Amino acid sequence: MAAPISIRSLGKSFHGRGQSIEALRGIDLEIADNEFITFVGASGCGKSTLLRIIAGLESHSSGQLQLDGQPIEGPGRERAMVFQHYSLYPWLTVMQNIKFSRRLKVVADTVRHDGDIETADGRACALLALMGLEPFADAYPSQLSGGMQQRVAIARALMGKPDILLMDEPFGALDAQTREVMHDLIRHVHRLEKSTIVFVTHDVEEAIYLGTRVVLMAPRPGRIDSQYPVPLPAERHQDMKLSPEFLALKRDILARIRETSGMRSELEMLEKLSAGMRE
Ligand SMILES: Nc1ncnc2c1ncn2[C@@H]1O[C@H](COP(=O)(O)OP(=O)(O)OP(=O)(O)O)[C@@H](O)[C@H]1O
Ligand SMILES: [Mg+2]
Repeated sequence: MAAPISIRSLGKSFHGRGQSIEALRGIDLEIADNEFITFVGASGCGKSTLLRIIAGLESHSSGQLQLDGQPIEGPGRERAMVFQHYSLYPWLTVMQNIKFSRRLKVVADTVRHDGDIETADGRACALLALMGLEPFADAYPSQLSGGMQQRVAIARALMGKPDILLMDEPFGALDAQTREVMHDLIRHVHRLEKSTIVFVTHDVEEAIYLGTRVVLMAPRPGRIDSQYPVPLPAERHQDMKLSPEFLALKRDILARIRETSGMRSELEMLEKLSAGMRE
């Protein structure tokens, strides 16, 4: 069972070179079991920082952060992270990459029976099949396309049966068609594994199509600006991206991102400048 995440008045500041950056301020958020929550927002609004704090890869400066009622104090095997860059080991094959994970070391420490190792082998094969990678088990990452490499990275993250999958722009480097395939794949994984997915993206369409809730963050300081429940059924298909409710939500979110990032005022400024040049 996936564990709920509770975040209260969370703040994060980075200090260095005589400067202090308030990356996050006053973050209040509850993420439920099995939720698929997506984060969007202008560059620099603290999306990655928040994800890294939930992963336990970064400390927070103030507030509280709990996982299933316990404070998060570092990485744990119930959480796995997938990054934009696939970060596979180039000298290992697809199968070896899937089986090789830091969490597996933790698993290995707790292995008591040969059966546990067989179960791990069985899971690696099942994940290989789920990701459609069976023919490539012995291939090396350099022989794979970007989409295939990212599927290996997802399989590797799933290997330790994480309750929570944290994904930071995982499809950002893929072409549009491959992204669509990955969207349906990751929703399938979500249904099958019953994990909680926390997903950061720059792509509003991706955030709506994947999520049950979209959280919009704003910069300077990084904060939650607004949240949008996604009015789509659990079962999704690509045509829904053209439905009126999908397009209306996309328009609202895009407009709000422009407002919170100051883009609207920059546009106004450009207009004023060009008007001044015409005079
Ligand atoms: N290790 C760090 N040291 C100092 N400042 C940092 C560090 N990591 C992030 N920041 C700053 O914190 C703020 C939030 O950064 P973060 O990477 O979380 O934003 P983001 O929303 O993920 O942006 P993007 O959409 O560009 O990935 C930025 O101002 C960034 O410069
Ligand atoms: Mg980021």
